[in-house]
Amino acid sequence: MQFFLDTGNVEEIRQALDWGILDGVTTNPTLIAKTGRPFLEVAKEILKLVDGPVSLETVSPDADGMVKEGKMLAELGDNVVVKIPMTPEGMKAVARLESEGIPTNVTLIFSPSQALIAAKVGASYVSPFVGRVDDVSNDGMKLIRDIKTIFDNYNITETEIIVASARHPMHVVEAALIGADICTMPFDVMKKLFQHPLTDRGIELFLKDWEKVPGKPF
Ligand code: E4P
Repeated sequence: MQFFLDTGNVEEIRQALDWGILDGVTTNPTLIAKTGRPFLEVAKEILKLVDGPVSLETVSPDADGMVKEGKMLAELGDNVVVKIPMTPEGMKAVARLESEGIPTNVTLIFSPSQALIAAKVGASYVSPFVGRVDDVSNDGMKLIRDIKTIFDNYNITETEIIVASARHPMHVVEAALIGADICTMPFDVMKKLFQHPLTDRGIELFLKDWEKVPGKPF
């Protein structure tokens, strides 16, 4: 499964690249606003750092506006993926952008039918939001299982599933168990994937015992 960072923070991206586990980046207007920096400055910096897909979101409500913004965004780099919200206008824009070879990521997916429609119009990615589904007392991971089953039933392979709105490491693990293509996560969640208290205790013990070893070469 591919790991994407869900962030606008360039330092977090640098750190994840340094770990060697970063496959791509997703952003949204909220994440960009959090940086307090101009959109184009942030987007260009991310695109310079990351070779994998980088999702940048459109904000127009209508298909013409989304296509116009999408084309502008696509000019920024070969790895730009245009993020489009799941609306009828959005789906018109997805079909037009994809027909011109511009990859799209349909965002704000909360039901299997929405994912099916996005795949039908040719989106390269769908982003179901598991954390936000959990927030309203529903089962976010069931949404992923259902979408995966439907895509497998119809052998849909051109549309990849990005598990989005991940809130903790178990969302990531469950996404992998289900066989989702990608999980996009905040930096904090990515950091936690490394952690286990028994690993820390084990290291502590080994270092203590190492002190007792005679003739240490290092
Ligand atoms: C997906 O691409 C979105 O940017 C993101 O995962 C939203 O997550 P949130 O629910 O934590 O805002």
